[in-house]
Amino acid sequence: MSWSNERNLELQARARQVIPGGMYGHQSVRPLPDGFPQFFSRAEGCRLWDVDGNEYVDMMCAYGPMLLGYQHPKVEAAASEQARLGDTMTGPSEIMVDLAERFVARIEHADWAVFSKNGTDATSGALAIARATTDRRTILLAEGAYHGAAPWCTPFPAGTLEEARAHQIEFSYGDTESLDAAIRQAGDDLAGILVSPFRHDAAHDQTEPDAAFAHHVRERCTEHEALLILDDVRAGLRLSFGGSWESLGVEPDLSAWGKSIANGHALSALVGNERCREAASKVFMTGSFWFQAVPMAAALATFDELSREPYVEHLIAMGTRLRDGWREQAERHGVGIRQTGPVQMPMLLFDNDVRFRRAYRWVSEALRCGAYLHPWHNMFLSTAHQEADIDRVLEATETAFAVIAKDGSEPAA
Ligand SMILES: Cc1ncc(COP(=O)(O)O)c(C=O)c1O
Repeated sequence: MSWSNERNLELQARARQVIPGGMYGHQSVRPLPDGFPQFFSRAEGCRLWDVDGNEYVDMMCAYGPMLLGYQHPKVEAAASEQARLGDTMTGPSEIMVDLAERFVARIEHADWAVFSKNGTDATSGALAIARATTDRRTILLAEGAYHGAAPWCTPFPAGTLEEARAHQIEFSYGDTESLDAAIRQAGDDLAGILVSPFRHDAAHDQTEPDAAFAHHVRERCTEHEALLILDDVRAGLRLSFGGSWESLGVEPDLSAWGKSIANGHALSALVGNERCREAASKVFMTGSFWFQAVPMAAALATFDELSREPYVEHLIAMGTRLRDGWREQAERHGVGIRQTGPVQMPMLLFDNDVRFRRAYRWVSEALRCGAYLHPWHNMFLSTAHQEADIDRVLEATETAFAVIAKDGSEPAA
């Protein structure tokens, strides 16, 4: 079946009348090339169908939440069973305790857990708890890092006050001198240092988790009696079951989780150690839907499934197959690319492609050949991606690289 976009265009026209900008937030296709579908009709495994019926191997996994594949039978069975019993109730289900116990058992630094809906709830809660624990105000965070859409961290500050970012100091990720300078600036007011497990800012080359930097942050926090907050919302579970700095031997005091912990059901978590327990019990954290039982049942089933087999190895194998394939295709077609970060979260950027024109062309061609890729954001692998799916993506990108190569000259900066 040939690719078409008519129904999507109709819906986008209707949406422009009733939804600001036609769509908002990170799932808006406005910063993507023309023709990218805005609306989807269904998803299963690692496949996604848009409203025109086009089928894609989805390399975005809903921007992270889908780790075991869409509509995972065991996760959905657990969610349906819980939905039959109750979801939003006057109080939580007993499974909230089961789930908190799982987090505490699984994550070395976790002595307690609280649950919410979005990653931003968890990162915002972490800042409040760090300040309440230390009775200090200043939080250090890396320039350009994404921690959510609240006024203190949104990258698009329209409608926010500069004061919302008061008592925050930025440093360059991975740069210990810059971090130390920020620590000096904070003086005796340092409440905490908020970091992602590696640099995964959109539109930039990613880094690998850096043991020396992670240990440096930990040592400085300990020395200054400040809290180390790891934002594992994006990477959490894809690098390791126990937290993304587990393999580096670095334990944060607090870590924020979201996205994939309930395989697509709305749930985030903030976990912490004994030192922050009392403050965590004082900070008022709540929301009308934060205690829903269905996402917690889905999270328990996700944990069960992840415990069954060494899933990270599978993600690494699939990610390596994809990275090797893209490297070979780019070399053969004479196109300069960079692939960075952990292979489980693929990121491909083109050399000398300041305005992402080459990337736009590449993802547009791949889209029409059945692969949903992103031109400037890291992508995500799931356990549902099998060799045949990766090969399907590579077939699509073979065509896309050929088009880029034929295009010849570098796009004008
Ligand atoms: C590292 C990181 N922190 C926090 C968030 C915010 O999560 P949410 O969009 O669920 O609020 C995100 C979302 O992409 C993220 O990537």
